[in-house]
Amino acid sequence: MLAQTRLNDLDDGPSAEAIAAFRDGMTPFWHPVMEAADLMEDRPSAVRLLGRRLVIARLDGELVAMPDTCRHFQARLSLGSVVTVAGERAVQCPYHGWAFGRGGRCVRIPQLAADRKIPKTANLPGYNVAERYGLIWVDLSGAAEFPIPDFPEFDDPAFRIVRLREAEPTRTSATRMIMGTLDDTHFPWVHEGILGDRDHPEPPDHKVWRDDRELVVRYEVEQPPNMITTDMSRPDAAAAGPVRIVYTDHVGMPAIIRLVKDSDAGRYVIWLASSPVDYDTCANFWIFARNYDLDPARDTEYETMSAHVRQQDKPIIESQRPWLIPPFWTQIEMPMAPGDLPLIEYQKWLEELKISTAV
Ligand code: FES
Repeated sequence: MLAQTRLNDLDDGPSAEAIAAFRDGMTPFWHPVMEAADLMEDRPSAVRLLGRRLVIARLDGELVAMPDTCRHFQARLSLGSVVTVAGERAVQCPYHGWAFGRGGRCVRIPQLAADRKIPKTANLPGYNVAERYGLIWVDLSGAAEFPIPDFPEFDDPAFRIVRLREAEPTRTSATRMIMGTLDDTHFPWVHEGILGDRDHPEPPDHKVWRDDRELVVRYEVEQPPNMITTDMSRPDAAAAGPVRIVYTDHVGMPAIIRLVKDSDAGRYVIWLASSPVDYDTCANFWIFARNYDLDPARDTEYETMSAHVRQQDKPIIESQRPWLIPPFWTQIEMPMAPGDLPLIEYQKWLEELKISTAV
C-alpha cells in the first residue's frame, strides 16, 4: 500500500530534502564537466554541476574552476573573456571589468582607487580541477572520497578509442543513468538482436563484490554476433552464431562505469562518466575502446552503433520516476534478486554515501 500511494504523485519531483541529500551526497567526488578540446584559450566556458554554475578557463596553462558568478554584482563571468592583467592571465567579468586569476583570486578592480589594495573578500573560491581522458573534471569539495577511476585501455596503444558526444543532456539523475548502464537484464527487451534475445530473458549468474574504490560485477552471457560483441571483420563472424562474453563491470562511485566485455575476438570496453548537472539532469561522457577490428576507417560505424544503442535506452531511462532512485525503505521499487543483484548492491552503496535517502 505504501508503494502504491507514493506512485500516484511521483511526477511532482523530489522533495527539497531529497534534492539536498542528492546534491550534498554527490559533492565529495570528481565529476567530469566538459570535453577538454572544447575549452578555448581566450574564452571561459560555462558548465553546471549539482545545480551550481561554474566557469572553467585555462590560465597560463593551468586549469581553473570557480563560481560563474562575479563577486561584485553577480554577473556571469563566462560571458566575459580571458585577458592579461599585470602579466597574468585572468577571467574578466563583462559587466565592470573585475578580473579573477588562478585559484579565484581577484587581480583587478578597475574602480578601485590607485592607492587601495584589492581586499581579500573580493576573491572567489577556486575548486579542484583536473584533466583526464580528454575531459575536464571538478571536485567541489576539495576532499574527494576517491581518485578519478583508472581506465587502463584508454592509454593502451593496442586499443582504438571512439568518443560519443551527446548533443544534449539526459533528463534523469546521474545515478539512474549509471543504474541503467549497469543493468543487464534489460538487454533482451531494449536491445533485442544486438545484446540479447527475448527467448532467453533469464538473468546471468552475477558475481558481485566491492574493493576499496569500486563495485565490481562479473557474469557470462551469450549475445548475437555484431561489431560490439565480436570482430565482424573476420569472414566467418556472422555465421559463427551467438558469442560467449565475459562481462566485468567496474563502478566508480558514484557515477562512473566501465563495462569490459571479453570474448574470443578480444576486448570491447564501454566507459561512461555521468555528470550530475542537477538532480534531474545529467551530461554523459562516453568513451569506447576495442582491441580488434582496428582500422580507423571503421570508427564511424562503431560510433553509429553506440549511438543507436544509446537511443534505444534514452527514452526509457528518462521515463523513470521518481527522478532520484528511491531509497529501499520507501518500497517504491521491487528489485528482483538474484537478477537485480548488481543494482541492489549499487543502490546500497549510494545509501551508505547518503546520496539516496528520500523521495
Ligand atoms: Fe562583475 Fe561588476 S558584476 S564586475
